[in-house]
Amino acid sequence: MSIDYQEKIPNNVNLAEDRKLQRALEKWQPGYQQWWSELGPEGSHQMDVYLRTAISVEPGGWANYGHVKMPDYRWGIFLAPQEAERKVNFGAHKGDAAWQEVPGEYRAELRRLIVTQGDTEPASVEQQRHLGLTCPSLYDLRNLFQVNVEEGRHLWAMVYLLHAHFGRDGREEAEAMLERHSGDADKPRILEAFNEPTPDWLSFFMFTYFTDRDGKYQLASLAESGFDPLSRTCRFMLTEEAHHMFVGETGVGRVIQRACDIMNEHKTDDVRKYGGIDLATIQRYLNFHFSVSVDLFGQEISTNAANYFTMGLKGRFQETRIDDDHLLKDAIYQVAEVKGDGIVYADQSALTAVNERLRDDYIRDCQRGVDKWNKVIQEAGIDFEMTLPHRIFHRGIGSFSTIKATPDGKIITEADWDHKHNDWLPTDEDRQYVTSLMEAVTEPGKVANWIAPPAKGINGQPQDFDYVRFN
Ligand SMILES: [Fe+2]
Ligand SMILES: [Fe+2]
Repeated sequence: MSIDYQEKIPNNVNLAEDRKLQRALEKWQPGYQQWWSELGPEGSHQMDVYLRTAISVEPGGWANYGHVKMPDYRWGIFLAPQEAERKVNFGAHKGDAAWQEVPGEYRAELRRLIVTQGDTEPASVEQQRHLGLTCPSLYDLRNLFQVNVEEGRHLWAMVYLLHAHFGRDGREEAEAMLERHSGDADKPRILEAFNEPTPDWLSFFMFTYFTDRDGKYQLASLAESGFDPLSRTCRFMLTEEAHHMFVGETGVGRVIQRACDIMNEHKTDDVRKYGGIDLATIQRYLNFHFSVSVDLFGQEISTNAANYFTMGLKGRFQETRIDDDHLLKDAIYQVAEVKGDGIVYADQSALTAVNERLRDDYIRDCQRGVDKWNKVIQEAGIDFEMTLPHRIFHRGIGSFSTIKATPDGKIITEADWDHKHNDWLPTDEDRQYVTSLMEAVTEPGKVANWIAPPAKGINGQPQDFDYVRFN
């Protein structure tokens, strides 16, 4: 399963043996490179960046580190190894051999799933493209670019599936991936959270913690797919995604650490006076990014999701480890709904509730990072606790989008919301303040004043390592 970097498009799918496919992808490649140079990380074209590149898809052996000139990064097509005798593990086709070709009757649904996932990948690169200009350190700049090149590769992963398995309309969808742009008035990205700008580094860390984690859960449920090429693609993407969430978790943790250090050093709550970001502001950013990411899981009750499940296209998180019949015909699942001025949990068909179940898995996972952040605060001896807002808070999609609620899940009136929401979500003033701190620090080993240095370097490198060389 080693990757051939002699090829124009590095790959481990024997691309050279399929001339037609190879030519089609080589035709798409210049458009991708043009997109990268126009809408990829601003000002990065001359930089040499210490990046990891996949050299093999075997567990533990895939990462190779070295300085790479950014536009020369080798984006390619890498699938996790095929599992012998893999089966469709859920839904109406449970027990059949996994499909190596697209089942004709599910073509439209499968294409939709791949396009929706694929569209988020270049979207996040577009959202983050200005951040390099205000990096808090070379370490962080390198991490931003690592995330960006891998999101670019995730686009390649989805475009490969479209080209290899969906003929002409797959090729058209691949073109459209480069035509929609984040925040574009005429041709926006498909999902709303991917049209919001990522204007500052606190937003970036929150995004990689909460929104990339949505990506993890979407990829994990697509990795269960009965369509084997999609499963293998997503399994390899997940290994890359882990680093993105690490960047978010440690990034937010370092901003919190710095706030606590300032509070202790100056015996004050007025962190802003000393150029840090106060814990209350961090909590408001957390509330915002969590709530928009929770929306990405869609409607609580969804017949589309039920159909994808029954068709064997998209499973639940860790489907094969769940102890049930994997058909869910008569199974029930408890789903929150509005009742009066509160919420109740009611029995619903587990089949139509698979989105909600995935959201539950996601929320549990989000809590783990919050617990770690609270440990930082606790160890500093400060009396403050970060909390995840309730799932009904600040929702734009699903049954809670019609109500207003407090972060702890109490339904309130519009008037109360208007009065109070500035306590719960970042205000214009918060954003202006955070933006005012964003200034590039590019001296090796130096870190901006509003964030603590990283606990350790990438790939064991020392603190003052030149992760990025400017030419
Ligand atoms: Fe991704
Ligand atoms: Fe990611």
